[in-house]
Amino acid sequence: MKIRIFNSPHDAGIYVAALAEQIIESRRKPVLGLATGSTPIPFYEALVHLHQCGLDLSRVTTINLDEYIGLDSSHPQSYSWFMWKHLFSHVNIPKENIYLPNGVATDLEAECRRYDEIIHSHPIHLQILGIGVNGHIGFNEPDDTLLSGTHIVELRPETVMSNARFFNDIGEVPKRAITMGVQAILQADKIVLMAFGREKAKIIAKSVYGEVRTDVPASILNLHKDVTVVLDRDSAGELLDESGRLRTK
Ligand code: F6R
Repeated sequence: MKIRIFNSPHDAGIYVAALAEQIIESRRKPVLGLATGSTPIPFYEALVHLHQCGLDLSRVTTINLDEYIGLDSSHPQSYSWFMWKHLFSHVNIPKENIYLPNGVATDLEAECRRYDEIIHSHPIHLQILGIGVNGHIGFNEPDDTLLSGTHIVELRPETVMSNARFFNDIGEVPKRAITMGVQAILQADKIVLMAFGREKAKIIAKSVYGEVRTDVPASILNLHKDVTVVLDRDSAGELLDESGRLRTK
């Protein structure tokens, strides 16, 4: 794993946008796997800025990691809404190239299979990930096993609690979601895991320097050959020694 530590999420976002530009420019039909939540916002801001400076996104396809069950795309807390607000409405990615799971599909199992087919026919070149305080990636929550395909997940209480900051009331936070499985994530050519803030420091240390374990889902990224972990000084806190240098594993 490559580790890059920045002074601010803003600087980190510019770095990740530059990585995305390299992929976009080097592929005929670039496919980006995208995440939501507070972490990737500086990346989306930087990507929008690059677009305003001339980067063409018209050949890009995007595949999002997850969506809440029960929120349709017009709900301001749906991940679809989030993506339009922070990225899609500001750039020229064609609407027909944008994929998110449908959290209000009448047949959710069929929706999972549909999503797996989309992923299968659009192999992901660059996968952007955030990380939950419990180590989840996408909504692959800590468990005895990790599922390979797209699936329905019961969100863990700590995830519901953490996501409550985006809702008026914790009771409004959906308890279930559709998430891409770990196989799709690990099949991406390149993965960038982003994390900012002190509350992510412990789980980053466990994921990056600890054993590969299903109760720390992000630790499976150690099995991938091209992962860059993009941090700020706070989230990197437990990876550094007293003199501020990266500890060895
Ligand atoms: C969202 C997702 C989640 C988040 C994680 C961190 O699409 O896949 O894994 O990346 O919950 O969320 P934030 O960035 O809000 O701390």
